Amino acid sequence: MLPSVLVVLMLLSCTRGENPAIQFTLTDKGLYYAKHKGADWIQEKLEDVTLPDVSGEVSMGLLGSIDYTLSDMTVTKCDLPEPSVEFYPDATGLKTSISDLSVALTGSWSTHYHSIHDGGSFDMAVFQVDVTSVVKLGKDSDGRLSVTSVSCDAEVGDVAMQFHGGASWIFQPFVKHFKGRIGSKIQAQICPSVEEEIVQLEQHLQAMNVSFDLNPVVMLDLPLTGLPVITASSLTLGLKGEFYSIRTHTEPPFKAQPFTLPEQQDYMLSLGLSEFTLNSASFGYYTAGVLQTTIDDSMIPSYCPVRLNTTSMGHYIPQLPKMFPGLLMSLKVYAQDVPAFSFQPDVVRLGVQAGVKAFAIQKNGTQTPLFTLILDSKFSGKVWTSDARLKGSVKMDNFTLRLKATEIGSFSTADLENLVLNGIQKVGIPVLNEKLAKGVILPRMKQVQLVNTVLKVEKGFVAMSSDTEVLTDRGVTDKL
Ligand SMILES: *[C@@H]1O[C@H](CO)[C@@H](O)[C@H](O)[C@H]1NC(C)=O
Ligand SMILES: *[C@@H]1O[C@H](CO)[C@@H](O)[C@H](O)[C@H]1NC(C)=O
Ligand SMILES: *[C@@H]1O[C@H](CO)[C@@H](O)[C@H](O)[C@H]1NC(C)=O
Ligand SMILES: *[C@@H]1O[C@H](CO)[C@@H](O)[C@H](O)[C@H]1NC(C)=O
Repeated sequence: MLPSVLVVLMLLSCTRGENPAIQFTLTDKGLYYAKHKGADWIQEKLEDVTLPDVSGEVSMGLLGSIDYTLSDMTVTKCDLPEPSVEFYPDATGLKTSISDLSVALTGSWSTHYHSIHDGGSFDMAVFQVDVTSVVKLGKDSDGRLSVTSVSCDAEVGDVAMQFHGGASWIFQPFVKHFKGRIGSKIQAQICPSVEEEIVQLEQHLQAMNVSFDLNPVVMLDLPLTGLPVITASSLTLGLKGEFYSIRTHTEPPFKAQPFTLPEQQDYMLSLGLSEFTLNSASFGYYTAGVLQTTIDDSMIPSYCPVRLNTTSMGHYIPQLPKMFPGLLMSLKVYAQDVPAFSFQPDVVRLGVQAGVKAFAIQKNGTQTPLFTLILDSKFSGKVWTSDARLKGSVKMDNFTLRLKATEIGSFSTADLENLVLNGIQKVGIPVLNEKLAKGVILPRMKQVQLVNTVLKVEKGFVAMSSDTEVLTDRGVTDKL
């Protein structure tokens, strides 16, 4: 019974699971860099720590006992050795260890012995602190990354103390007694503090959005599609990576195909983007109805001898100036179908099928429909990164133009096809390539930017590998 239930559950999870269209991998090199940056942060945080008061009593034998309180304990110096952080497949998470941490503290002491009060200050050093924490990474029901503490162990090796002021000579002999007690108090405090930090991190993760509006037209959905995958040398996250029209939120008629992001241990991180992500954006814009525009004569550059009027168009469509003499024209250009991207090794291909509806603009403003054309064009392009920018170039591979409908009788489209092809080749493509050559700046998050980025178009996806650089507060970059 149980095995068959398991099989059904597995099948269900297979059929319902979706392939991630975006994959993100953090390598050992990336983890090492992150840890290095994190250690500075921990060091700063430790120096802000205020410890809770410690109180108790010291037995003075026949004289009874003295009540004491150690308070205002603050860290004055902290010597944090480089921690070790590693991928920990056993827990689907990370294991962090710090060994031989030492901390110097100062504080005040006060004692009560019957009605006698005394007090002063003290210095304390805590040596050989070892902390090991294991966290598990997971995914919540909304597809957010989650982090939970699996285990934490802390050990304090030794404590040294020096009392100053008051009748501190009475206390100095009891340092042995304090040492053990304070050592174990501090030891008992470490793991709850570590776990508190993990809970706070988890709260930050829970507050993160997994869906973003890119602009008023489309949104991007980025929940995890499955549990994080942890190996001994990497962490990989699979994200949905699907665009939707904000207005319609329609699911496209195609699905994300699986792909394998190659391991690139020489880089800190890798990102794989399936052609599905681009095509879902294309579908989102298409279903939102924004892939259309109207062209009139005023938009044609003045140096262009061909004008958008019935006289000028008479060269291509002889009956037009006879039927509608001396009128300006307008063209409504719209996507006839969803523009489709396809990634092939080293090439990005794009197919666009556009409809063009031509109108004559009557003297009274009425637009009289003339004919409808279908333009089929195929482009291919290259993309690369340089100077922290994503750049590209594009060329047209094929172009056909045909008449779909006409209100003015049939005409040959061969000359018109040449005219439009020339326009695209001589004006459209050069203008586009000028923009692509300038490129767009690679995305940058607050204080982290990508460096040494390489990009490779593979079959079905594009893979980007990169190192990162943290910009420090002083604005100086600090590279590994
Ligand atoms: C998450 O999205 C909501 C609504 O779109 C927005 O108000 C909020 O600021 C976002 N939170 C973050 C952390 O981006
Ligand atoms: C139409 O274009 C021709 C140039 O081909 C120009 O001489 C003429 O003035 C234009 N007519 C209108 C109505 O704009
Ligand atoms: C505008 O002019 C055209 C052609 O002269 C005519 O057919 C049409 O009825 C007119 N439309 C209006 C609203 O006057
Ligand atoms: C352009 O496309 C047409 C129709 O799809 C095809 O017959 C023709 O061979 C293509 N031309 C080139 C240069 O690829």
